[in-house]
Amino acid sequence: MAAGTSIWQRIGFRRSFGVAEAGWGRTLVVAGVSFVYFLPVLFIIFTAIKPQALALSVPPTLSPTSLFGLIPEQFVFTPTLENFGSVFSRIMTVGGQPEATGFDRVPASGELQLDPQAAYLHFTSNNTIFGTQWATAPEPPKGVPLVCDMSSDAFSRPLDIARYGVIYAGAQKNLGPAGVTLVVMRKELLERVPAGLPSVLDYKLMAENRSLYNTPPCFAIYVTGLVLAWLREQGGLAAAGERNAAKASLVYEAIDGSDGFYRGHAEASSRSLMNVTWRLPTEELERRFVQEAAAAHLVELKGHRSVGGIRASLYNAMSLAGVQALADFMWAFADAERTPA
Ligand SMILES: Cc1ncc(COP(=O)(O)O)c(C=O)c1O
Repeated sequence: MAAGTSIWQRIGFRRSFGVAEAGWGRTLVVAGVSFVYFLPVLFIIFTAIKPQALALSVPPTLSPTSLFGLIPEQFVFTPTLENFGSVFSRIMTVGGQPEATGFDRVPASGELQLDPQAAYLHFTSNNTIFGTQWATAPEPPKGVPLVCDMSSDAFSRPLDIARYGVIYAGAQKNLGPAGVTLVVMRKELLERVPAGLPSVLDYKLMAENRSLYNTPPCFAIYVTGLVLAWLREQGGLAAAGERNAAKASLVYEAIDGSDGFYRGHAEASSRSLMNVTWRLPTEELERRFVQEAAAAHLVELKGHRSVGGIRASLYNAMSLAGVQALADFMWAFADAERTPA
C-alpha cells in the first residue's frame, strides 16, 4: 500500500491530526495494528522528512503499561531465552521524586543526574494518581533519545515533537477508545532495534509491515480519527491547551480559595491540568463530598485507591461547563461545612 493510501489517510488522520500546528511539518505516518486475541493495539506514527519516505508500521499490540516494559528492548537489548529477564535489571530510576511527601511534585531539572551514556531517558508526562504533570519535558543529555509515556495528557496541549525520540500513549483518555495505543517514533531509532526480538516486541518488524502485521482494530482507529478531526475543528492543540488550562484553574481556584478546607495534593509548580487531586479535612467529609456530588450528577470523583481523597479528571472530552459545575459545587460545599449550624 502506498503511503498515500494508508488506512490512516483514508480516514483523514493526517488532515485531522493537524500535524502542522504540532510543529510536525510534513512528518508522518502511521499504522494501526491489532494483534492476536483481545490485546490492545498499538500503532506507530513515524516521523519522516519526506512524505514518500514514510514508514508504515505496526508495532505489537500492547497497552501502555506493557509497552513500558517493551521500550528497553528496542534500544539496548539482544535477547536470548537465557538473558530475557536481565533487561529489567538495567533500567535505572532517576532520583528526585520525593516519596516521603507522597510524590507530590516532579523532579526539578537540577535534581536530575542523567547518564550521558544512557540508551534513552524515559519519563511519564502526567501522573493520573498523584495529579502531577511535567510543565515541560526534561532535557536528556546530548544524543540520548527522550522517551515519553504520554497516555494521560497526549494532545491536551501543544507539543514540541522535535524533542522526542519516542512517544507512546494509550488512546483511552484523550484520543479515542481503549484498544488503540499511539506510538510516535523517530525513524532512525528503528535502526537500533536488535535482530531476533520476538515479533510481538519488534517495532522494526511492525514498521516494515506498515502497521499491518496483524489485523488492525478498524473501529477504534476510525473513532480516533473522528476525535482528531473534532480536536482540529476546536482549534487544534493550542486551543486544547487553553481550554484545559482554563478548566483546571476553575478547580484549583476553588481549592486555593477555600482557606485550607481543600488541600491540593500536588505542589503548585507540578500541578496537573488533567487530573486535579485534593483532600478534605477528614475522610468522613470526603465520603460526603463524593456522595453529595454524585447526587448533583458529578460522578467518579473518588481519588485513586492508593492515595484516597478526591480526584477530578479533566481530559479533552470534559467540557468547561462540566468543570464549572464541579467548581460551583466545591465552593458551595466548603461554604456549607464552614458555616456554623
Ligand atoms: C501515564 C499512563 N501510563 C499507562 C497507563 C496504563 O494504561 P493501560 O492500562 O492501557 O496499560 C495509564 C492509565 O491509567 C497512564 O495514565
